[in-house]
Amino acid sequence: HAEDGYRLWLRYNHIDNNKLLLSYRKTITAIHVAGQSPTMDAVKKELELGLNGLLDTKIAVTSRPGGNTIIAGTREALTTSKLLPQGAQVPADGFLITTNVANGNTIITANTATDILYGAFHLLRLIQTHQSIENLHIISSPRVKLRLLNHWDNLNRYVERGYAGISIWNWHTLPDYIDDRYTDYARANASVGINGTVLNNVNANATVLTAPYLQKVAALANVLRPYGIKVYLSARFSAPIEIGHLKTADPLNDSVRQWWQAKAKEIYQLIPDFGGFLVKANSEGQPGPQSYGRSHADGANMMADALSPFGGIVIWRAFVYDPQANDRFKQAYAEFTPLDGKFRKNVLVQVKNGPIDFQPREPFSPLFGAMPRTPLMMEFQLTQEYLGQGTHLVYEAPLFKEVLNADTYAKGPNSTVAKVIDGSLYDHSLSGIAGVSNIGNERNWTGHLFGQANWYAFGRLAWDYTLSSEQIATEWIQQTFSNDPTVVVSIKQIMLASREAVVNYMTPLGLHHIMGNGHHYGPAPWSNNAPRPDWDPVYYHKADAKGIGFDRTASGTNALQQYQTAVQQLYADSNTCSDQYLLWFHHVSWQHKMHSGRTLWNELCHKYQEGVDTVGAMQHKWEQLKNNIDPERFHQVQMLLAIQHKDAIWWRNVCLLYFQTFSQMPFPANYEKPD
Ligand code: GCU
Repeated sequence: HAEDGYRLWLRYNHIDNNKLLLSYRKTITAIHVAGQSPTMDAVKKELELGLNGLLDTKIAVTSRPGGNTIIAGTREALTTSKLLPQGAQVPADGFLITTNVANGNTIITANTATDILYGAFHLLRLIQTHQSIENLHIISSPRVKLRLLNHWDNLNRYVERGYAGISIWNWHTLPDYIDDRYTDYARANASVGINGTVLNNVNANATVLTAPYLQKVAALANVLRPYGIKVYLSARFSAPIEIGHLKTADPLNDSVRQWWQAKAKEIYQLIPDFGGFLVKANSEGQPGPQSYGRSHADGANMMADALSPFGGIVIWRAFVYDPQANDRFKQAYAEFTPLDGKFRKNVLVQVKNGPIDFQPREPFSPLFGAMPRTPLMMEFQLTQEYLGQGTHLVYEAPLFKEVLNADTYAKGPNSTVAKVIDGSLYDHSLSGIAGVSNIGNERNWTGHLFGQANWYAFGRLAWDYTLSSEQIATEWIQQTFSNDPTVVVSIKQIMLASREAVVNYMTPLGLHHIMGNGHHYGPAPWSNNAPRPDWDPVYYHKADAKGIGFDRTASGTNALQQYQTAVQQLYADSNTCSDQYLLWFHHVSWQHKMHSGRTLWNELCHKYQEGVDTVGAMQHKWEQLKNNIDPERFHQVQMLLAIQHKDAIWWRNVCLLYFQTFSQMPFPANYEKPD
């Protein structure tokens, strides 16, 4: 099927502008790839596939480059063959693309083959987005070292919070059957610089660490390796008991330590470049070191010691909360900041972007900037658990950027979250960022076609978080749909409006976690009978006759105190706190005067309506593209937008009618009364 979305942003359809096509054909008459290795072969294959498609002609592969040739090779190889132009500055990490004006050759070079592969994808992107490739001089280096997907995929192929079919990993047929999809997955990731993947769910099954499964993991690692992607596994802390038949998983117990050491050795024999372990411990019922009176650091260090002889790392998650606590917000900070400086060198602590759980909008987690001696890894969620899942169009780049650009003030102004993550604020050489994957076995990978944009944007921002949401959207649209300005402008408007839309129709003004317990899809603000109080919406919105919102200031739980003073000052006063975070930090009266001049109640009505209206406008814009987009993809998105619009109305009606039982205030005049 030509237009089922399978090819993602790597479509390589021929350039439909004749003038451009001819000029590209003039600049590129041949490909020369220096040296042979699985990765250099991948470079060659991709350049051939891409250029033959885009230029709609067979581009010769040559061993003796003349002029107007794309030359790809390491600095070393091209220096030897004298193909590297004099004075070329090859960055330590990343790539250089430079035109040799003397002969018209375009040189893609780097210190490693993987970086050359990134350069090759970059060049193809320039052509896909109709940019000039004359006189190039591009130096591009990644800002963050570990750029990982986290799959929440179970071994039975059910994907936790997955909305795109079942897992792409077919554990049943592995290791003997290698699905082509694994290679295409690797290509897509490499094209945006993703260099690692955690294959299995953080709620881990120890079985993945048994010998037969490690064979399967090794088979996947073999497919991904040429594309520069390392494999990692979520490790279940109690694995020594479950598959090692020990009586304990106590991290200070010698047999336990030896078991992990032997396990590490076994893994590295099969997968010499294995990345390491991701661990969810003492969180939501998962086993962990606290079960033995030990700390997160004891647990992480024990595993880190097992992996360090082989160069592996431990990524220890900070997603912890306690049903007894009066404010879930505070738990991760309380448990982890005392451990700062206690982790081994090969441990990173992975923190979700916000203090609660992947809401449409959260303030940044106060852990960022609060653990100077520990490299902190960012965890974003590409799968839209609380953002309409595989059904709603929500472009997440603005969410990611909002968090990365937030100022922690940890070392004075301009101590952004991004600088914590890239290691620059505290001079850490390890740095990382993770995206919880939205990929499944659906034909178009992500269920919603626009979920692809979140995968794409995550990779692009992990490489360079200074790119704007708009830039990333533009290039994604150009590659995925078309370079036609009408298409680009309209889809970009849809995408850029979509994040604020979901905030408005689900959780405006700082409301959060009022989705139904369990599924997290639709609204259930009334719900108060979940298995734990901190899974209940009423815990978070605290609506009563006086008002609504969670008081996290000094008069409430004082979670605000976990931030630097300058951040506290931004939010501490309900009269100056920005509307976006008002109900995150304050319980305010229904009559509270908002910055707009409206009462809080009227503002809430206004925001819910604005969310609905934005989705209406998104639909309208999409409709106008009917003749510019292939019918398959047009129709799919059209149907999903219609559901999104219905859902937005549902959210508005449910939330306002419920909250009105407390506010007892009428709907504003001219307001479409919910029913
Ligand atoms: C959320 C999500 C769970 C997931 C957890 C985690 O709570 O609903 O399905 O396991 O996050 O990140 O560990």
